[in-house]
Amino acid sequence: MADPLRLGIAGLGTVGAGVVKIVRQKADLLSARAGREVVITAVSARSKSKDRGVNLSSYAWEDDPVKLAQRDDVDVFVELMGGEDGPAKAATEAAIKAGKDVVTANKAMLAMHGQALAELAEKHNKIIRFEAAVAGGIPVIKALTEGLAGNTITRVMGVMNGSCNYILTRMQSAGLTYKEVFAEADGLGYLEADPQLDVGGIDAAHKLAILSSIAFGTQVNFAGIALEGIENVTIEDINHAADMGFKIKLLGSAQMTGRGLEQSMAPCLVPATSPLGQLDGGTNMIVLEGDHVGQIMLRGAGAGEGPTASAVMSDVMDLARGIRLPTFGQPAATLEAPKTAAAATPAPYYLRMSLQDKPGALAKVATALGDAGVSIDRMRQYDHADAMAPVLIVTHTTSSEALVAALDALPATGVVNGAPVALRIEQI
Ligand code: NAP
Ligand code: HSE
Repeated sequence: MADPLRLGIAGLGTVGAGVVKIVRQKADLLSARAGREVVITAVSARSKSKDRGVNLSSYAWEDDPVKLAQRDDVDVFVELMGGEDGPAKAATEAAIKAGKDVVTANKAMLAMHGQALAELAEKHNKIIRFEAAVAGGIPVIKALTEGLAGNTITRVMGVMNGSCNYILTRMQSAGLTYKEVFAEADGLGYLEADPQLDVGGIDAAHKLAILSSIAFGTQVNFAGIALEGIENVTIEDINHAADMGFKIKLLGSAQMTGRGLEQSMAPCLVPATSPLGQLDGGTNMIVLEGDHVGQIMLRGAGAGEGPTASAVMSDVMDLARGIRLPTFGQPAATLEAPKTAAAATPAPYYLRMSLQDKPGALAKVATALGDAGVSIDRMRQYDHADAMAPVLIVTHTTSSEALVAALDALPATGVVNGAPVALRIEQI
């Protein structure tokens, strides 16, 4: 049997403790499958004395993750601390320079420094693996880099943040406001230490940027994502969307167009009966489209100790088996510099506005939309007690430029109160 694969694990929180448990509990299974033992030699975290529910006494302890990364008895540095810079990045770089492969779950670090880290790894003939960084337990990185390697990927979409999906689902099922459900989710410990990473769409956008790079052979481009979080989604919009047959999801979408790479992470409407519309609670779903395979959907737990540790172990097992792939599926030098598409691919839109309920008001709105080239598919006006009527419009497929022109023209009609809500509709 080959020599054991020796892991040094930095970060013993939710994910790190989960990985230690799998390595301890499944030693025989892992060794049978890899053809060699997988062992932990050293660990690091901030507090040595904290009880983590696992026995760490047989592992060397390092206070400094950089020192852990450089140890001679470590073959693979497993980075599970998190944070886009700081100790995670410093220790990852130190590990590569010291001749170690790296496994990480750190989407923030890869979204911001993925290209530089991939180049550094290749320079030292080392690799970085990160199955756990996107959609927790769903093996989507493997699906893209291996299962679909013979396809030109045409589109990547999905719900990539379980906390946001939980909040939106709960708002609808309990009829609660965003603020009420946010407080509830925070209290239950569902949100990141900085909740803005979740509700601002940043965490999900980190994941989308990573998927885009692999899917389209481009350098990771977080800055090129049109990003909007769920903070402004109201219970009114959730209810009105439901009335029109839709659900609101924080949806990531990336596609390569003739105008460049189009990436967006924003609240969108999807048909309530579609697989994405039926995705409730903290679950994730990734939709991949390839020219030969067509459309596939991967659904599962996007976070949590077990699912995320399972994904980390997928990378560890590949390294134990000698499977070595370039970081983003192809050599870093061949990844194209990103060109961001200036406008979004045409789509139908949901518009909600508060309209003065008086003769000719609707006609003025219809004219403003028509003049901008926006065609109305469906429209609904709701009961109201005051002079302002809530009006919903579902448009036919329209360009984003036409939509912006229409929205810009609405105030001049003199019949619309405040800024209308406009959300893209994805027929998926
Ligand atoms: P966590 O529970 O907060 O654990 C972080 C660990 O890192 C803790 O053990 C902490 O030590 C340690 N740490 C932090 N700063 C350190 C430093 N300067 N030196 C040494 N150790 C340090 O985080 P987590 O949820 O396990 O997440 C870890 C990574 O996985 C992150 O990149 C996260 O984005 C990613 N991820 C998490 C999930 C999930 O469901 N949790 C899912 C997908 C990806 P102490 O325990 O002593 O404080
Ligand atoms: N905050 C993330 C989520 C954790 O809710 O999906 C997993 O990346």
